[in-house]
Amino acid sequence: MTAPRYRWQPTTAEIAERYGLDESDVIRFDHNTSPFSTDWAPALIAPMARRLNEYPGALYSEIREAAAGYLGVDSEMVVPGAGIDEIIGLVANAFLGRGQRATAVTPTYPMYQIASLQRQAEFVSVSYEPDFVFPAGAFGEAAQTSDVTWLCVPNNPTGDRVPDDIVASIIEQARGIVVIDAAYAEFAGDVWARWVERYDNLIVAHTMSKAFGLAGIRVGYSISAPKIADRLDSVRPPGSISSISAELASVALGEPQRMQRRIMRLAKEKSRMSAALTQLGIQPRPSETNFLLCDVGPQSGDIAGQLLTKGLVVRHFPDDHPLVNFLRFTVRAPHENDRLIDALWRQLS
Ligand SMILES: Cc1ncc(COP(=O)(O)O)c(C=O)c1O
Repeated sequence: MTAPRYRWQPTTAEIAERYGLDESDVIRFDHNTSPFSTDWAPALIAPMARRLNEYPGALYSEIREAAAGYLGVDSEMVVPGAGIDEIIGLVANAFLGRGQRATAVTPTYPMYQIASLQRQAEFVSVSYEPDFVFPAGAFGEAAQTSDVTWLCVPNNPTGDRVPDDIVASIIEQARGIVVIDAAYAEFAGDVWARWVERYDNLIVAHTMSKAFGLAGIRVGYSISAPKIADRLDSVRPPGSISSISAELASVALGEPQRMQRRIMRLAKEKSRMSAALTQLGIQPRPSETNFLLCDVGPQSGDIAGQLLTKGLVVRHFPDDHPLVNFLRFTVRAPHENDRLIDALWRQLS
């Protein structure tokens, strides 16, 4: 099977041009990114911008130390990459190839399937049970014969979090590596350090793109037993993170209180937005993340299309996707969410 391609949404500039809008009127409810400005960054970047003639240090020790300090693990357990997307690629390169098998649930983040198939591995997809019940039995069984088991906790796009006892049982049953994609971990209050110390077949992937609000810098990292980290490092390109990105990531990881305060603000806003969507008759699914998933019915594509003409970019799903009737909304700043609620109110009433 050839690997499907990851389909990027149109850029903000493209959407603005298409609908005759100002770029500042376009709001991204589709990427699960942060609404908070990075106005603290230019002062840090300015001195570095005069030294861009040299390569960054290929080890990225500053990211390793900062991530290790943030999570309370040894820096030998950390491997940096250009976002979780690159970490997913490193795992596939290190542990998958022709004749090997990878497993993930459906629906989940599509890069697991793409990276597995790019490596010509067999890809097993285990569907969620009705009513968003995690398929613990079937998934655990598939993990028993898989070289890589991909698990997104909390899961994108469903927003739910598989309970700890099921996570543990999957790791214990798995024949090979288990990857926990912890892109949304901070929103759920998850801390995986102890798990990595307990299980030597576990890789946990973290990102600066979501709770830390730095999607543009493209930095992520994995934590795992040092032996596995060494294996990932052996397939890691030496310079995929720019020196500016490495610096910004290290600084942000060193100030987790700033991120925690923002999570609290977003949690409040998520409750407010959730109540407003419920009043519109589209009650969101329970969510442990910074996004809300709503069943809006068969008109989902039309609703998303109408919103887009106003610069409100929401996530909708293709016709063959199990969530075709759903829309996913990132929780953003209050005035941005108000624009979305107002537009939805006009369309749905
Ligand atoms: C579950 C999940 N993993 C990984 C990513 C990509 O993360 P990064 O920006 O670190 O590559 C996303 C982005 O939406 C995601 O939802």
